[in-house]
Amino acid sequence: MADKDKVFIFDTTMRDGEQSPGASMSLEEKIQISRVFDELGIDIIEAGFPIASPGDFEAVSAISKVLKKSIPCGLARHSKKDIDRCYEALKHAPRFRIHTFISTSPLHMKHKLNKTPDQVYDSIKEHVTYARNLTDDVEWSCEDGTRTDMDYMCKTVELAIKSGAKTINIPDTVGYTVPSEFTKIIETLLNKVPNIDKAILSTHCHNDLGLAVANSLAGIQAGARQIECTINGIGERAGNAALEEVVMAIRTRNDLMPYETGINTTLLSKASKLVSNVTGFPVQFNKAIVGKNAFAHESGIHQDGMLKNRNTYEIMTPESVGVKQTSLVMGKHSGRHAFKDKLISLGYADLTDDVIENAFGKFKVLADKKKHIYDEDIIALVDDSLVLDNKANNLVLKSLKVFAGTGEPQKADMTLDVNGQIKSATETGDGPVDAIFKCIKSLYPHDVNLQLYQVHAVTEGTDAQATVSVRIEENGKTTVGQAADTDTLVASANAYIAALNKMILKREKTAPMMEQQEEKMRGI
Ligand code: KIV
Ligand code: ZN
Repeated sequence: MADKDKVFIFDTTMRDGEQSPGASMSLEEKIQISRVFDELGIDIIEAGFPIASPGDFEAVSAISKVLKKSIPCGLARHSKKDIDRCYEALKHAPRFRIHTFISTSPLHMKHKLNKTPDQVYDSIKEHVTYARNLTDDVEWSCEDGTRTDMDYMCKTVELAIKSGAKTINIPDTVGYTVPSEFTKIIETLLNKVPNIDKAILSTHCHNDLGLAVANSLAGIQAGARQIECTINGIGERAGNAALEEVVMAIRTRNDLMPYETGINTTLLSKASKLVSNVTGFPVQFNKAIVGKNAFAHESGIHQDGMLKNRNTYEIMTPESVGVKQTSLVMGKHSGRHAFKDKLISLGYADLTDDVIENAFGKFKVLADKKKHIYDEDIIALVDDSLVLDNKANNLVLKSLKVFAGTGEPQKADMTLDVNGQIKSATETGDGPVDAIFKCIKSLYPHDVNLQLYQVHAVTEGTDAQATVSVRIEENGKTTVGQAADTDTLVASANAYIAALNKMILKREKTAPMMEQQEEKMRGI
């Protein structure tokens, strides 16, 4: 298939997605996500905004070193300092993209930038040329594009291409446009910008009106050939176009949208679960493609139709997005070898021996407690091992006893390893979870806000494992901790401890770089 029919998938889960309030990701988590995205076949991965914080810089730099196929990209404002920082973070990759942007709508130019249209115009020439001297893969975005005067947009796009941009991205920054209008914007650019054939047009649609996917597809049908999107549609405010939805729409309605993406759709479910676990943002049950109910058939009429012919009520198969029927997998007699094979079949091919060994130990303990062990249980164990078995952890739960029930106040007895020192405490609380969290606080005094405490059953049944997510906040920084166990209270303690360990790591990493952060606050 010729290039013109390929739609490039540009993922911004780790940049725009991370801008969702509360969706911060650690370096290790970003690397884990990048590996899955690379395998998924994403063409370009926007790994972060390197000037925004030392953590972002480090993440973009690390990701640019691990990607095998996907092209890493970093975001930069129209500032030479931003662009240099972006280049510094990306330069280790054989190929990389610098994505630079400036607002072009009258509202943003006047009130946000305090610049005239002529000043913005001059800035495009200066900064796109500057970026082009560092890489031949430059993307330029006109922020708030859908509220920009069309003639002015044509002029700026022509100039950006003349200055060296190979991709022109049209953001619907505030999720304001509708498909018919967005179609016209893309068509006008294609018809009126004389050098438009030298660049690929891209869509970047936000979901404030629930139209991000529809607008992105309208853009593609009008002639754009790149979609910017995020897994699970996470992003600023109501989010971005959901990657899994645009990709499956193109695949399922290929009769109307005869384009190809390079996405291995059977990994969509895995990518969605990973992003949800890392961010602590649950996927709504009825979410298209990756929701728990996306392939569930409840009513008798539907079930009857499905038994006769799956096409009656399924427009795509669960297998095509990597959803497998919950399968009974292993029991307490399964050995290490079978466990390792199972991990590979679940997509965990590159785990370290330590993580496998730890997960296997947990599997044996679980197999003693729980009658049926499912794929989902094993996935939860491995994800848990990846988070909890970090050697750098400052806090490790050694033991926990909880007294709950009616009458008495709930009480927790806990022993914790705090930086190598074994400490114990007993606390009461408004409920067992409160008592547990108070124990942690008395053993490791800290002052964070608990933003989210969430419990999910991994599989069905009263002996199911629970996955607990905890999000905490300290001085504007947030971290998410997650843990799984058949005992919800043990999972709660471990999830809170995991969030604290990440916060401690974040404090250590950001303290020496405060100067740069202050610079950021001043707006550079
Ligand atoms: O929504 C937006 O305008 C953006 C740009 C930085 C591309 O995220
Ligand atoms: Zn955006």
